[in-house]
Amino acid sequence: MNILTFDSDDKLNEAGAGIITGVVQTNKRAVLGLATGGTPVGLYKHVVSDFKRGMFSFKNVTTFNLDEYIGLPASHPESYHSYMRQHLFDHIDIQPSQAHVPNGNVPDPKAECARYDEMIEDSGQIDLQLLGLGHNGHIGFNEPAHALTRGTHIVDLAEETRQANARFFDSIEEVPTQAITMGVGTILKAKMILLVVKGADKADIVQRALQGPITTDCPASLLQTHPHLVVLLDRAAAEKLA
Ligand code: F6R
Repeated sequence: MNILTFDSDDKLNEAGAGIITGVVQTNKRAVLGLATGGTPVGLYKHVVSDFKRGMFSFKNVTTFNLDEYIGLPASHPESYHSYMRQHLFDHIDIQPSQAHVPNGNVPDPKAECARYDEMIEDSGQIDLQLLGLGHNGHIGFNEPAHALTRGTHIVDLAEETRQANARFFDSIEEVPTQAITMGVGTILKAKMILLVVKGADKADIVQRALQGPITTDCPASLLQTHPHLVVLLDRAAAEKLA
């Protein structure tokens, strides 16, 4: 595992964007696994400005997002479809048909999970998987559990997760209770994983995830088993690391 710590948010975002653009520049047909949430917003901004300088193209790139809420239409401002359009897809030349986000607004979410897994399988292998980290150690929406799930599946969101995400909605009642998420097995199958974590409120979970026991109680701790894990932290998030 390669842990890099940054004093400046901008430098961290620049480094994260550099890793993503590096993958796309060296492999025009790259398959990227993408995340949403507060953490990667600045990183996507850097990717967009690099793209606008004509440094590379996403024309042949395929992306798979980690997750989507169940019950929100794609057009809802807080859906992860909307997030990705706002922060990345609307500003680059990716083919919309190649930018995949699970559809959480279908009559049969289970069938959607199977369809999503099939598409990931058909794409070969995810070259780079971008991840944020939940306060309880979740990656994607794989919440702490006795057993983790390999493929894409439906999850009940932990109360803690709904509370953390309530900041994006008018009230906690509006935060969906379920989501579709890529499984930990799929995440770990990526060739390279880029975990980005910011803020003092994540310092404890960063320590548990990277230096604590490998346990399904902290799904991110499974990342310790990955041969190509790069972790970008700000000083505050890195504070409790030994
Ligand atoms: C988002 C995702 C989540 C977030 C995590 C951290 O697609 O899969 O695991 O990465 O909840 O969220 P932020 O960055 O908002 O703290």
